[in-house]
Amino acid sequence: MQTLATAKPPLADMEAHWDAIQWTDEYATGNAGIDSDHQRLLALFNEFSLAVNAGKGDAIVRWVLDDLLDYTHYHFAREELLMHEVDYPDFARHKTMHDTFIRQVEDVDKHLSIGADLAAFLLSFLAKWLSGHILSADKQLGRYLLRGRVEH
Ligand SMILES: [Fe+2]
Ligand SMILES: [Fe+2]
Repeated sequence: MQTLATAKPPLADMEAHWDAIQWTDEYATGNAGIDSDHQRLLALFNEFSLAVNAGKGDAIVRWVLDDLLDYTHYHFAREELLMHEVDYPDFARHKTMHDTFIRQVEDVDKHLSIGADLAAFLLSFLAKWLSGHILSADKQLGRYLLRGRVEH
């Protein structure tokens, strides 16, 4: 007999197909270090969506997601250091976006066990957040760094 706890479909039963995000010049910020981080982040996002699409087991999905989050921490630290070095006027707002993102993902991660619900939420949240943040806040930062010629 099925209980409520087991009624959730496993990842393999998900019918949704998650699209990859392809890097295009539209995402370029003009800062080589930031751009290569973003390319790596999108590649990790794509691995995550492939793992979910393929119905990989929870352990694999967790492993790919952890990689993506680890790299996100590393990347945010790089951007924040750059902003700090150039006294970026929009530092506080940009850093708050990073901090809020990490907190939201960690909150969701804590409250949903890996499975269809978490994967679906994270895939749509990450796709929107990553492309939206790069296209707005990070490109604005890139323009500022180019004016001061800061390249790392
Ligand atoms: Fe970024
Ligand atoms: Fe950023």
